[in-house]
Amino acid sequence: MGRYSIMAYTFGALFFIVSFSFSIFYGVKVVTHDLPSEKTSLEKYRYHFVLVPEELDNEYWRLVEKGAKAAANDYGIVLEYVGPKQSNIDDHLKTIEMSVASKVDGIMTQGLSDEQFTPLINRVIEKGIPVITVDTDASNSKRMAYIGTDNYYSGYLAGRALIADTKGKANVAIITGSFYKNHQIQRVKGFEDAVKAEKGIKIIDIQESDISRVIAAEKAYQILQAHPEVNAFYGTSALDGIGIAQVVKKYKKNDQIYIMGFDTLPETLEYIRKGMINATVVQEPYEMGYEAVKMMIDLIEGKKVPSVIHTNTKILRVGDLPPGHPDRMEERQ
Ligand code: BGC
Repeated sequence: MGRYSIMAYTFGALFFIVSFSFSIFYGVKVVTHDLPSEKTSLEKYRYHFVLVPEELDNEYWRLVEKGAKAAANDYGIVLEYVGPKQSNIDDHLKTIEMSVASKVDGIMTQGLSDEQFTPLINRVIEKGIPVITVDTDASNSKRMAYIGTDNYYSGYLAGRALIADTKGKANVAIITGSFYKNHQIQRVKGFEDAVKAEKGIKIIDIQESDISRVIAAEKAYQILQAHPEVNAFYGTSALDGIGIAQVVKKYKKNDQIYIMGFDTLPETLEYIRKGMINATVVQEPYEMGYEAVKMMIDLIEGKKVPSVIHTNTKILRVGDLPPGHPDRMEERQ
């Protein structure tokens, strides 16, 4: 073999080894969502927990993450925040499975549906990894504890508030994050129960947003086209009220349309100040995250933990916001 062929072979072999190593390294990184799997590198921490939300970049979940990270910092925990970029049940379940495979000490996640989450949560518990449900419970599973809003009650509160604010007369359309997820089902059920005895309140339509503000806006638009009699909306997940308000602002300038939203994201508060969203249901995402981490530590250390902790929920209107905002009295424009 000539000198050049030897060099070419050597170069080829080196190139192969380098690119092969890179693909293995990054392949593993993608599959594990970057979960640290080496227990040894975590030795200086007490435990390694994972928080898996239904949608990673959702502003509401970033608040839960913030609370959880603050507690992790205070108590010497490694906290991974991993999950689907956009709402996707299969990815959500896969992320939980991967967390189990990387032998984390505790998993915090939602119990979105009994059908898909309960069997998985039970399997995880049987493997000896504690699971706490956060924000959405899977109460029929063997999860160790739940921390979050009483979702039925929050929907009930929304219904009572809507009756009070509309003086018991409204044609309501509901936009819900999902027809199949536990928390959304309960928020709708609570609302329906609250208004069912009110003769003047009619639920005209209910549509799904897949927790996306763009879809919420599309659905609001379609509802207004199909049912011009609709004069009130109730959005049951954090971005629904915002999507509805955008459409109402654009297409229904002169009509009085009442909007009840969910959560207190900055944009929602802005719309409340401007009078475009009339009321919203307050949840405590930061506290959910913070307390979930504390509960997980207590569970692992054999302390008694209540099986259900309901964080506060209430209705917020413009009058509940701190005074002094120049745009507070602004009308729809
Ligand atoms: C819910 C979360 C959901 C979010 C979607 C919140 O109201 O509590 O579970 O992921 O809305 O925007």
